[in-house]
Amino acid sequence: MSLIITVANEKGGVGKTTTAVELALQAIAGGHKACIVDTDHQQSCVKFKMRREQLAGDVAKLKVLPLVGKSVGLQIRELAGDFDVLVVDAGGRDSQEMRLAMLTSHLVVIPTSAKSLETDGLNKMASLINEVRLQNPALAAVILPTRLGASSHSADRQIIIDECRRPIDPDHPAGGTIADVVPTVLMAHTVWRNAFDRAYTWGKSVLEMDPRDPKAVSEVLGIYREVMEAANG
Ligand SMILES: Nc1ncnc2c1ncn2[C@@H]1O[C@H](COP(=O)(O)OP(=O)(O)OP(=O)(O)O)[C@@H](O)[C@H]1O
Ligand SMILES: [Mg+2]
Repeated sequence: MSLIITVANEKGGVGKTTTAVELALQAIAGGHKACIVDTDHQQSCVKFKMRREQLAGDVAKLKVLPLVGKSVGLQIRELAGDFDVLVVDAGGRDSQEMRLAMLTSHLVVIPTSAKSLETDGLNKMASLINEVRLQNPALAAVILPTRLGASSHSADRQIIIDECRRPIDPDHPAGGTIADVVPTVLMAHTVWRNAFDRAYTWGKSVLEMDPRDPKAVSEVLGIYREVMEAANG
């Protein structure tokens, strides 16, 4: 059975594309057939693939399919037959494509830093997941802390956990908290590192860079392991 993982957050610039390409490339490195579905109108994964073809040299092939419109769900389901792992980069706004991708997914990964500007949007994602679960009750959801402070990553992760104790709807606190809907904040995370931006620029995973940033590498391996565990239930 293939795994469908959607990386989504209505907030922009939180690390969705970085997470999507690293997950897909780790899956390929692990011997799986993996593909990225890019439903973001910015087409950042498509651009990553172009960079990879032009600059990255002798690296594994990466398939990236741009999909938009009403048939996204259907197309993802059809593709799932051909791949072990499908990673959807669902872009930085609530869209038809984001909802359709989540409807067909096993897991949604929500990257966020500990900054209020980003954590303030988590209740909207929880509300969206609640809606989607009416039709896809098995949808799992985890929060992936990204771009944490190098010397404050534990405290930053705790800030995200605390933010998840907030009600989804501040006017109706009895309606449940973000953590009721998304109970897991992954232990795996990224710290703010130039290595991630540099790898995107070269169309590579941080594992494929030479020289490698060993801390970025170990973060990506930790994320891949925890995300796959969550996706497999
Ligand atoms: N851990 C990190 N440390 C430093 N920079 C990072 C890290 N993760 C991602 N970045 C950089 O932050 C920027 C935003 O990341 P990314 O493009 O993955 O976010 P996004 O959520 O996909 O954004 P958008 O909403 O625009 O699609 C990029 O320049 C990326 O290289
Ligand atoms: Mg993006």
